[in-house]
Amino acid sequence: MNKLNKLFIINFILIFCLVSCDKNQKNLRGTSINNSIEQKVDSVLNLMNLEEKIGQMVQYSAGWDLTGPASSKSAKEKVDRMKKGLVGSVLNVVSVKEVREAQKLVMENSRLKIPMIFAYDVIHGLKTIFPVPLAESASWDLDIIKKSAAIAAKESAASGLNWTFAPMVDVSRDARWGRIMEGVGEDPYLNSVIGVARIHGFQGDDLSDVNTIAACAKHFAGYGFAESGRDYNTVNIGEYELHNVILPPFKAAAEAGVATFMNSFNDIDGIPATGHEILQRDILKGDWNWKGFVVSDWGSIGEMKSHGYAKDKKHAAEIALNAGSDMDMESYAYESSLEKLLEEGKVSLEDINDAVKRILSLKFQLGLFDDPYKYCDEEKEKNDIYTKEHLAIARDAAKKSIVLLKNENNILPVSKNIKSIALIGPFADNKDQPLGNWRAKGTYNSAVSLLEGVKAKVGANTKVYYEKGIELTIPTVKPGNNQFLHPLEFNTENKEGIAKAVAVAKKSEIVFLAVGEDAYQTGEGRSQTKIGFAGLQNELIEAVYNVNKNIVLVLSTGRPMDISRVNNILPGILITWHLGSESGNGIADVLFGDYNPSGKLPVSFPRNVGQEPLFYNQKNTGRPYNPTHVTYSGYTDSKKSALYPFGFGLSYTAFSYDNLNVDRVETSKDGEIILSVDVKNTGTINGEEVVQLYIRDLVGSLVRPVKELKGFQKISLQAGETKKASFTIDKEVLQFYTINKKWEVESGDFYLFIGGDSSTKLKKKITIL
Ligand code: BGC
Repeated sequence: MNKLNKLFIINFILIFCLVSCDKNQKNLRGTSINNSIEQKVDSVLNLMNLEEKIGQMVQYSAGWDLTGPASSKSAKEKVDRMKKGLVGSVLNVVSVKEVREAQKLVMENSRLKIPMIFAYDVIHGLKTIFPVPLAESASWDLDIIKKSAAIAAKESAASGLNWTFAPMVDVSRDARWGRIMEGVGEDPYLNSVIGVARIHGFQGDDLSDVNTIAACAKHFAGYGFAESGRDYNTVNIGEYELHNVILPPFKAAAEAGVATFMNSFNDIDGIPATGHEILQRDILKGDWNWKGFVVSDWGSIGEMKSHGYAKDKKHAAEIALNAGSDMDMESYAYESSLEKLLEEGKVSLEDINDAVKRILSLKFQLGLFDDPYKYCDEEKEKNDIYTKEHLAIARDAAKKSIVLLKNENNILPVSKNIKSIALIGPFADNKDQPLGNWRAKGTYNSAVSLLEGVKAKVGANTKVYYEKGIELTIPTVKPGNNQFLHPLEFNTENKEGIAKAVAVAKKSEIVFLAVGEDAYQTGEGRSQTKIGFAGLQNELIEAVYNVNKNIVLVLSTGRPMDISRVNNILPGILITWHLGSESGNGIADVLFGDYNPSGKLPVSFPRNVGQEPLFYNQKNTGRPYNPTHVTYSGYTDSKKSALYPFGFGLSYTAFSYDNLNVDRVETSKDGEIILSVDVKNTGTINGEEVVQLYIRDLVGSLVRPVKELKGFQKISLQAGETKKASFTIDKEVLQFYTINKKWEVESGDFYLFIGGDSSTKLKKKITIL
């Protein structure tokens, strides 16, 4: 037996032993398991040669569902490297059969048989599609958000996957940015709590549970602040904006134990995030002491060359590793350069070992060393995906995500016995667009359309007329192919359908006008300069309005749109986003009053695109805006305020806020004040209200925002019922990243605001001594 063979056998026995030893302990928690994982990781690391270590830091895409430039490496080359055990993870291999095949390449051919992790962008469901993340965030319902992530995880795990690239926790304030649909919107606090709910949903309490998968907080950091909303663009923010606005959701994710982070394409103040040592090494792995691993974004290591920040790919690999990027997604920079860079002393073995340890640790936590095919169970794949139970929760999520913006003369809800309804618009009978962008394995044309939802709801005597009116679909998008070539072109010629729409509107008691944006108008690379109604939609709306004023706008969108013009004339406006598989049923639940809408905007709706970026929590200026002095910090041709502010949303009932009280008006920096308020349902039907707490720090060592969300409670109130909502005002609520470069509470006066949206004026003043 030659030396190599001997070594191989010894290694195999060692790994086998490590794995079996783990079996008795795998359900234990706490330090002992962490210590034991650490020990196992160290033992495996000791067996690895340099090439194998670098291999663990490589992630390949299988080649479809590409989100970036197509791979320059052939499938054969990728397979060969997998066989040699030189790939740590792959993305876009989905289904038990394919995952098994890929895993076998490693397990049956490589020296050390270190299983790969399988990743996929499961952003809002795998096959059961939930509302797009921005929509779901409008529910302000942490329970349903966690449930939907848990189902997405269960379906993914049943398809062989064990890692999703979600949640996106980029604070995003520019409606032009296409990826605004993928996150929680403009507020750091809301991004934090919803991000954490999603992480808990994906990861559960135990990553080794076969129904959970690893989550990924992305994109670290600043990606949502791309200049003028242009995707992938430069981010120009100062240190305080970074710490007070952008980082808090990431810190919350790290504290919640998110398994991985993804860095981002953009530069911040001249340094590409992928090569940002302060962000990744000093803050994330240093100050926050986070133990997971950082994956690059697609090709973002190589793209540092295009940024003009790295001379070539090798230089890019050097910068990325030194900055703390542990895994290289599709740049092929680590595999081609790290060995050489180490020889030249430009990177350290210590950093390579650290990256590999972090990656191996997740593999142990997932239980892949116990059983590399653990997630490859055909029975689960057959039974756990797209089930009735999952669809029921998708419907619940859909209805809870809807936001009622306008309801003049109580045009909604509509009686199920109404004589006639006209359903008009390009999205009225559309079974695909509700799936939104990033719909993973959602089947083309599989959503419940609005027409189907309405028909299922009304009685036999109700006539339901349908006319599309106009064509809006984006011609360049084909099923299964998420890529398209710009610029978008919409039909502005063919107006024939408008007359037909007018004819049905004329003979109907009410019109549901289903317009807005196509699924592929938002998402990655879908930034737009216009956020109004594309194509012939305005003409359609006007033509219908001329014959029937009883219109409810049912707005499909993945971003805040400019709806000012229709807002002036239409009596009813419902924001129905891209709501997923059960869209039509969820909307019908609200239209006909089976569910009383409770959604609140997670992002401001502007009066026009010129206001973007628009967000409520802006800092004050030396010449604060004042409605009678429009030149101050505003515009001369538009009001400064949002058309509908952050946190806004109506219900079919109404709520009043009374007896706002604090148990004391002064306290120390470490003290607590309890704020309470009586919230009453003053209407005649049951409903839910999101009670929102905002603060304003009146004088700070840095200029402070005019308002900041610091807490909320979603409460159910029966007709006539009053409940007391209480909030604890403490260090967590009052602190910020100050001029001293640390999080601290400063003494002085604060306003505490309570209300049903961010424009509330109901407040109490407190003093921190
Ligand atoms: C996106 C990431 C995504 C990755 C993998 C990139 O283009 O920015 O969010 O996870 O592709 O698909």
